[in-house]
Amino acid sequence: MDLKLQIKPEKLPRHIAIIMDGNGRWAKKHGKPRVFGHRNGVKAVRETTEAAAELGIDFLTLYAFSTENWNRPRLEVDTLMKLLVETLHKEVNTLMKNDIKLQAIGNINKLPRPTHKALLAGIERTKNNKRMTLILALNYSAKWDIVQATQKIAKACKEGLINETDINDQVFAQALSTGNIPDPELLIRTSGEARLSNFLLWQLAYAELYFTPTFWPDFRKQQLYEAIVDYQQRERRFGKISEQLVP
Ligand code: FPP
Repeated sequence: MDLKLQIKPEKLPRHIAIIMDGNGRWAKKHGKPRVFGHRNGVKAVRETTEAAAELGIDFLTLYAFSTENWNRPRLEVDTLMKLLVETLHKEVNTLMKNDIKLQAIGNINKLPRPTHKALLAGIERTKNNKRMTLILALNYSAKWDIVQATQKIAKACKEGLINETDINDQVFAQALSTGNIPDPELLIRTSGEARLSNFLLWQLAYAELYFTPTFWPDFRKQQLYEAIVDYQQRERRFGKISEQLVP
């Protein structure tokens, strides 16, 4: 049966997060430089975003550049930053046509100026869109996020805005860069690697993890459907036992 038809609309995750991995190995497999993999990765971004919006997913978060990625060769970092500018310029019209809002998480002030500018322009232009929110994690790391949230809360305490005894799960979650965004129910990582690589550590506490050997540039709608069908077959117990769950 068609995979898309197997997806139960009433059990869709509201938020899917993806670690797009394997661009470099995909390029190597094709005898090309690593940046060729990133260029082809953009096609996968486009298809996945379209598929998620068509299905009615509310939030899609893509790990596009981690704080650790600055350690890559200069040429690769520069090309990735240029590719982002190019893609943002080209695709903002598509986001408008599809009623998709763009957001970003991460230390984006430290991005190169043209990337930062293109990103802010895309966020501003799409801010009233309603169908889905596409969140790019850029210069992001979960440890950075947890530290900046802690600093925010410490400052609020110091200024007497909150009491230290008022700090709880909700207060902390609100101070993270994902403040008003619900936690992802499903995390997908491509390319056969099975780790979180400093991505959304707090927010993924109860996410279902899905690992696929597919390299990111080969990821298409069908691969997203496969991940969702797999997710829908899992029993999410949140610490309870099967018999306690309401069907
Ligand atoms: C991981 O593959 C990929 C990245 C670090 C960059 C992802 C960026 C894109 C797909 C392009 C731009 C994105 C947007 C949202 C417009 P890797 O290089 O780590 O692959 P490897 O593990 O095989 O070396």
